[in-house]
Amino acid sequence: MSEMASAFKITYHKEKLESYLRGESIFPATLELDLTSACNRKCPNCPSTTNLPSHNLKDDFIEGLFSSLEGQTRGLILTGGEPTMAPNFPKTLRMARRCGFVDIVVVTNGTFLNEEKVAGALLKNASAVRVSMYDWNAESCSGLFSTLKQIEALRSRIDREGSQLQIGVSALTSKENASALGSVTHQVLSAGAHWIYFHPLCIKWDSGSPLRVDQRGVLNQIKELHTDQSNHSGVFVFCDRYMEGDVKFNGYHATHFLLVIGADGMNYLGAEVKYHREHIIADVAGNWRNDFLWRSQRLQRIQAVNSQTYPALGSRHRGVLYNNLIEQFIKRRQRAPDETIPVPKNTFLFPHIL
Ligand SMILES: C[S@@+](CC[C@H](N)C(=O)[O-])C[C@H]1O[C@@H](n2cnc3c(N)ncnc32)[C@H](O)[C@@H]1O
Ligand code: SF4
Repeated sequence: MSEMASAFKITYHKEKLESYLRGESIFPATLELDLTSACNRKCPNCPSTTNLPSHNLKDDFIEGLFSSLEGQTRGLILTGGEPTMAPNFPKTLRMARRCGFVDIVVVTNGTFLNEEKVAGALLKNASAVRVSMYDWNAESCSGLFSTLKQIEALRSRIDREGSQLQIGVSALTSKENASALGSVTHQVLSAGAHWIYFHPLCIKWDSGSPLRVDQRGVLNQIKELHTDQSNHSGVFVFCDRYMEGDVKFNGYHATHFLLVIGADGMNYLGAEVKYHREHIIADVAGNWRNDFLWRSQRLQRIQAVNSQTYPALGSRHRGVLYNNLIEQFIKRRQRAPDETIPVPKNTFLFPHIL
């Protein structure tokens, strides 16, 4: 069975994980990069806190960053802001392929998918485009309708041109919309999306302590979708994001595996605290150094974070869940130094995308 996301996805990067547990320096498996912080929308609970001044990453910076990770980091997530609005979007995708990224995923609100500059770049150089669905539960459904049309058009180009691009849709869930998940899945897959990915709607991003809204009933609905053969195994979810229970860590380990850089050129601890200045761990663009990953000041900041005081724990974002799992490996290694990391039972779609 294939999975899209789970804390165990980190075990796919067994060599990096083994090195990390031995206390060695590692290159990240994935780079999450905001090309721009500008956006054409104003979603009420945007995680990128769009009231900030607009930033765009420059070509030279992107090129230098990609080169410094070449051959070591194989997963790239381009997001924002709205990445397809960035003037250097096509060029960045070309550079990414040239620099050896294997899994390249673009996260977008989908508005500009019918522009040739955007569609052409995706079809040629991206592995997947993940279209965020926002209005699918709104009464008018106008947002859903136009997004579905864009997906249909892009899918016919994929089939006609023999592109490897996959179209995914990500839909935010809550107790309120749980009963509509079946209908949105059906519409999205019928329009030609290869898969749909559900993740919890969070609020209070501005406070730096994002929280999931009530998610009761969501996982049960998704389980039902999994038993329905007509969905062709195209329904994915990161189950642990919906669970309760303790998460414990000493040190934000995940940042060594998932490098998060904002459109301001700053390296943030995790995606859930992007654009919160207190979580900047390196000024990468303003103070470029090839060895920025291993500078002692950065490492000390990462090590100083722990689950008792981390304000964004309640989001149960992926970084938080990777931290928890890596911490368990660290403890087990201390007890049994010869124990090996278990091989994941399932295969992962886009294994280089954490
Ligand atoms: C900030 S958006 C940036 C990329 C693009 N503009 C978009 O909307 O897809 C990146 C991710 O944040 C997610 N997101 C947006 N609002 C959210 C919310 N309130 N809670 C959790 N995730 C959210 C989106 O689904 C998307 O996957
Ligand atoms: S489309 Fe994406 S970046 Fe733009 S406001 Fe909505 S969530 Fe934020």
